[in-house]
Amino acid sequence: MNYIKSKKYDNHFIYDCMMGPNAMKLLEELLTLHPISSGETVLDLGCGMGITAIFVTKEYGVRVFASDLWIDPSDNKKRFDDMGLSSHQIIPLKAEAHQLPFANEFFDTVISIDSYHYFGLDKDYLGRHLLPLVKHGGRILIVVPGMKKDIHSDIPPEMLLSWRAEDLETLHDAAYWQRILEATPDAEILSIEEMAGFDECWNDWLSCDNEYAVKDRKAMEAGAGKYMNLLAIALRRK
Ligand SMILES: C[S@@+](CC[C@H](N)C(=O)[O-])C[C@H]1O[C@@H](n2cnc3c(N)ncnc32)[C@H](O)[C@@H]1O
Repeated sequence: MNYIKSKKYDNHFIYDCMMGPNAMKLLEELLTLHPISSGETVLDLGCGMGITAIFVTKEYGVRVFASDLWIDPSDNKKRFDDMGLSSHQIIPLKAEAHQLPFANEFFDTVISIDSYHYFGLDKDYLGRHLLPLVKHGGRILIVVPGMKKDIHSDIPPEMLLSWRAEDLETLHDAAYWQRILEATPDAEILSIEEMAGFDECWNDWLSCDNEYAVKDRKAMEAGAGKYMNLLAIALRRK
């Protein structure tokens, strides 16, 4: 895929803010598969350092609530200000995914890139904590790191060069996610598919000097990527 929109952004800025495989490119691919419309109210759930929130605000003309747990919202506000975005367009906040401070049926779309696997593997999470915040007919668009086939009982040695078995517990295959998500009958699963950008988005991450990226290199250089994927998941509230 040719990431026309993402490539307009300064590489130094993106590399300084990456927390995993290039989230801006992943979001561009996700929104190519599942377009959104200007004027929508969007939640970026687990937005990290805000690169996806900036991207969707600037490129799609939506209003974004940029919510994260680990990253200070004041630091995100500074990044948003530096990008020339106003607090009418993009609102930084700190929130835990089980205690999101929003009214029911508030959002047209939720996006969540490389975050949902931290809290969404509990099959009750979606129906109890997230879906009620989405308008009927609205969508939840997710990217999670995954596995081509669940191999938790027989983890290949390449993967163990960088990660312990417990670090891999949140990585699952598409069939596993299907089972988790279909436990919420009010959510229609539109699609769960492997993303084309795996190699490019991982290469961007591995070439930045974030200490976690450096740690990930051993496994990926030994070929761990052949067991892994990135899954794009699209849900609609009925
Ligand atoms: C790997 S980072 C990805 C950040 C960003 N989406 C990106 O791709 O650059 C995972 C993010 O998930 C968020 N997260 C993890 N557990 C969470 C929870 N229980 N509630 C809200 N956010 C959570 C963290 O704050 C963190 O920023």
